[in-house]
This record gives sequence, structure tokens and C-alpha cells, in this order.
Amino acid sequence: MTGGPSFQLALYPGLTAKAQIQTSRTCPICYGCRAKGDIAMDNPAYPLGHSEHELERLNTQARYVEPATRRFFREAGVKVGMRVLDVGSGAGDVAFLAADLVGDAGEVIGADQVATAVAIATQRAKAKGLLNVSFRVGDPSELEFDRPFDAVVGRYVLLFQADAAGMVRKLAKHLSSGGVIVFHEPDWSGVRSFPPAPTYDACCRWVVEAFRRAGTDTNAAINLYRAFLGAGLPAPQMQMQTFIGFGAACTDWLKVAADLAGTLLPKIEQFGIATTAEVDVATLAQRLRDEAIASSPMIVGRSEIAAWSQL
Ligand SMILES: C[S@@+](CC[C@H](N)C(=O)[O-])C[C@H]1O[C@@H](n2cnc3c(N)ncnc32)[C@H](O)[C@@H]1O
Repeated sequence: MTGGPSFQLALYPGLTAKAQIQTSRTCPICYGCRAKGDIAMDNPAYPLGHSEHELERLNTQARYVEPATRRFFREAGVKVGMRVLDVGSGAGDVAFLAADLVGDAGEVIGADQVATAVAIATQRAKAKGLLNVSFRVGDPSELEFDRPFDAVVGRYVLLFQADAAGMVRKLAKHLSSGGVIVFHEPDWSGVRSFPPAPTYDACCRWVVEAFRRAGTDTNAAINLYRAFLGAGLPAPQMQMQTFIGFGAACTDWLKVAADLAGTLLPKIEQFGIATTAEVDVATLAQRLRDEAIASSPMIVGRSEIAAWSQL
């Protein structure tokens, strides 16, 4: 992988040198590598990949959305002592949050289709000293587990599924009677600025269009509800939280939006949505922030949507 991206231990300090080398050598579905002609992508259905930029983005995003996910999971009934399955565990942040909710008496198993992500999540759990959190490679709707779960949870994973209802139906089979299934997914249909902030509006347009062309759902509000009903579950309870702010208070959200545009840049280019020069990833977060501070428009961000049902 000559000339490919370097992956830094600083991002996940608990990662062993071996896992670090595996991370930098395998990078199985990273569009950044693909764009450089380094590594073939093996999962065209998942547009974000697991590049260094993407794993760092997940980390930044996890800090930004953690309070919303925590509230959603609590409302859904995730509590002390539960055994929890985390679907699409990525770098492990949702599993770690669930572990905090279930405490030492509970247990969390995360599953992700990508071995690199599971290696990183496993090392992070070890570094945190979490003995009741483990991770498995695979699609959890297809995996077998020795015992049922009290809760199945997931964040930002159903939007990537060709058949979200089918996946939810299979996942619900892992639940014990009275168990709860809860998903936290994004909805981009309400993003806007007023008076118009051209860079922000363009950034949101690039992201939404790249997702749409890649076949990724950007409208969780309606599709999450349909997925639960389509899975034969009771009509879910739902909640929505949307960022709204002015000036410097928008910084964290604008960074999340800019990072996502960075991860999606190869798609944005591939589909002819915008050029690398127009996006200018290196300066995008700063340009968004400067714009928000200079003219103080109202910035409405992505909505965080949760849906949950109890069996
Ligand atoms: C956007 S990331 C979110 C990670 C994590 N849930 C979080 O919120 O930080 C989505 C993750 O779901 C995984 N994923 C997507 N579809 C999956 C499937 N069918 N089975 C297992 N993992 C899946 C991807 O590999 C990726 O790591």
C-alpha cells in the first residue's frame, strides 16, 4: 500500500501495534484508499468506509450525539443489568454507552461486518477495562448467539440497509420476551439556514445528494417507522432532536457536517456533485464556522431520530 494513508495510534491509544498494522494494511472498504488506487473496496453498499478519517469522524460524531443517544436509550428502557446487542458497532462508542447504562451487572455484545472496526472496538474496550463488553465480526441479524438479549440497540446503521425492515425482523428474534429494540438514525430533510448561508447549504446538499445517489436513506423520520412496522413489530414510540443555533454555538455541528463531507468526498466527486476544489476539505470546517460567525444565520442541523418497540 505504498503511498497510502497512514493510521495513527494517537486516535485509539489502546490499539496494539499489531491491530494498528492490520488497520493500516487492510482498510477493507475505504473509499479514500480506493480513490488513491491502493485497495479494492469489498462492500459497495456501505459508502462511508473505515478509513482513518472515517474512524476519527465517528469518534468526533459520537461525542456530539452521545447525549441524544443516551436519552433515547434510557427512554426506550435500556437499564442496569440488561444484556444488550449493539448492531453495527463501528469503533464501539454505542456499545460503551450501553455498557454505562447496564452497569457491571449487565453485558454488551457489539457486532460489525468489518473486522477492522471490531479490532479497534475490542482494543478500546480493553483499554477502558470493560470486561463485560465484547465484539463480533458479522451481520448480527445473521449471527447466532448463545442466549437472548434484553435489548437490541443501534445507531446510524439501518440507513445503510437495502432491507431495513427485514433486518429489524431478524434482529427482533434475538430478543427475549418483553425485550426492547431501539434505533437512533439521522434525518437530513430539515437542514437549512436563514438568511441563507451558502457554504453551509452547499455542504448539506453535497452530503444528502451523495447519500441519495449511493442508495443511503436520509429520511429516518418516515423510514424508521416503516421499518419497524414492516418487521411486524408494534408501532414504535419515536423521538426527534434537532440542532438549531447561531454563530460560534454551531461549531460542533458544523465540524460534524464538514467531516461527513470529507468522508463522502470520493462519492461527491464520482457522482459529479461537486469538485475536490469546491469542497476543499482542509478548510471546510473553518469556512463553515467563519460564515456562521460573520453573518450569524440561523443554522438548523440534521435531526436525530429514535424509534423503539417492546416485544
Ligand atoms: C456510521 S457507522 C456507525 C457506528 C456506530 N454505531 C456509531 O454510531 O458510532 C455504521 C457501522 O455499521 C456497520 N454496518 C453497516 N451495515 C451492517 C450490517 N448489515 N451488519 C453489521 N454491521 C453493519 C458498518 O460497518 C459501520 O461500522
